Amino acid sequence: MTQDQPIVPFDWFANQFTFESREEFIDQVSPYLRSFIKVGDYALDLCCGAGPIAFFLEDQGAHVTGIDLAPSLIAMARQEAIKRGSRAAFIHASVLTHPLGNGVYDLAVCFGNAILDFPHQSFPQFRDRVYQALKSRGRFVIEYRDGLLRVAHMSEPKEVIEQGLDSQILRRF
Ligand SMILES: C[S@@+](CC[C@H](N)C(=O)[O-])C[C@H]1O[C@@H](n2cnc3c(N)ncnc32)[C@H](O)[C@@H]1O
Repeated sequence: MTQDQPIVPFDWFANQFTFESREEFIDQVSPYLRSFIKVGDYALDLCCGAGPIAFFLEDQGAHVTGIDLAPSLIAMARQEAIKRGSRAAFIHASVLTHPLGNGVYDLAVCFGNAILDFPHQSFPQFRDRVYQALKSRGRFVIEYRDGLLRVAHMSEPKEVIEQGLDSQILRRF
């Protein structure tokens, strides 16, 4: 297995995915996500799957790009974008190799426990790539459900402030 490949193939997720089945999830995370997004923001949805978070961010007024390795899920996202008249862009690629840009995004998110799909060795690479893609004072929000939720807030000068906000966040989700 290379670092590009998820630990689990995501055909199962595509097979069971419906936007209706993700409504409860969106309801849970939306109060939290709303506190990070501003109208006009450029947002990057890492491991976007079929795009439920991407569409939520767009509904809040963001310009959204989603990226995911699973072709079936990206196809669903693009189909849904057409259905909604969405302007969100969906890229079929690995976040570990696809050029994400330099200082482009106000917000990067990685939701749905997608971080679990990455081998631990790839975390620094993942973090560095996201950091480079963000504008200064950009925000990087990761959702991780197994008891640990972290917010990494990127700010100038080049430093990463990691805040363990577990108790606050756990109340919200
Ligand atoms: C549990 S799904 C979550 C999808 C979406 N964020 C959601 O909440 O509905 C995890 C996603 O991570 C994607 N993924 C895993 N490794 C990836 C990588 N290296 N680059 C891009 N996407 C990846 C999988 O294809 C899968 O769609």
